Amino acid sequence: MATNVVWHEGLVTRDARAKLLGQKGVTVWLSGLSGSGKSTVSVELEQQLFAKKVLSYRLDGDNIRQGLNKNLTFTPEDRKENIRRISEVAKLMCDIGVVVTTAFISPYTEDRDMAREIHKAADIPFIEVFVDCPLDVAESRDPKGLYKKARSGIIKNFTGIDAPYEKPPSPEITLDTSKLSISECAGVILTYLTEKGLIS
Ligand code: PPS
Repeated sequence: MATNVVWHEGLVTRDARAKLLGQKGVTVWLSGLSGSGKSTVSVELEQQLFAKKVLSYRLDGDNIRQGLNKNLTFTPEDRKENIRRISEVAKLMCDIGVVVTTAFISPYTEDRDMAREIHKAADIPFIEVFVDCPLDVAESRDPKGLYKKARSGIIKNFTGIDAPYEKPPSPEITLDTSKLSISECAGVILTYLTEKGLIS
């Protein structure tokens, strides 16, 4: 924990930036099993937002773990640190005025609650989206062959196999990607953001 540090305030406010950009920041936090469709939904959402001239940015587990979080493993402690750093990055991007979508398994309720708290403390809206897909469906998709490796013991601590996934108890949105198309899933989020006045 850093000591003797003092917040340095700027002269351009978040509201002033929002006026300049014509939009405000919000984090759309997608959580779900590997293969549930988080990344695919966030890619589609980004496109639908772009078509509405809303500036957004995706933070994705597989990508962030190749850069910012390349030193983190999949232990519960490292997953927590992963989520903490992403939450802080998302918060900063929201402060700029960007609509941020995050696609991380984020398997622990406590860690997702921490992400929510970090946003709440900064007065930034946080929309939790449970990408709900039965394990057998996610496993049958197995786009990267990771479930196969986890079942055969090559990968340890794999979420859903030998590491837990705690379902979000009260997400703002739940999407069943085994029933809805990807475009429909993104549409549900877009409609929610519009109806709540978070985008226009
Ligand atoms: S977490 O739990 O939120 O910290 O995970 P995340 O940062 O989203 O990274 C998940 C991606 O890492 C790959 N991968 C694993 N996932 C789960 N468990 C283990 N042990 C593991 N090892 C590697 C996998 O490609 C995940 O991507 P998605 O898109 O979820 O399939």
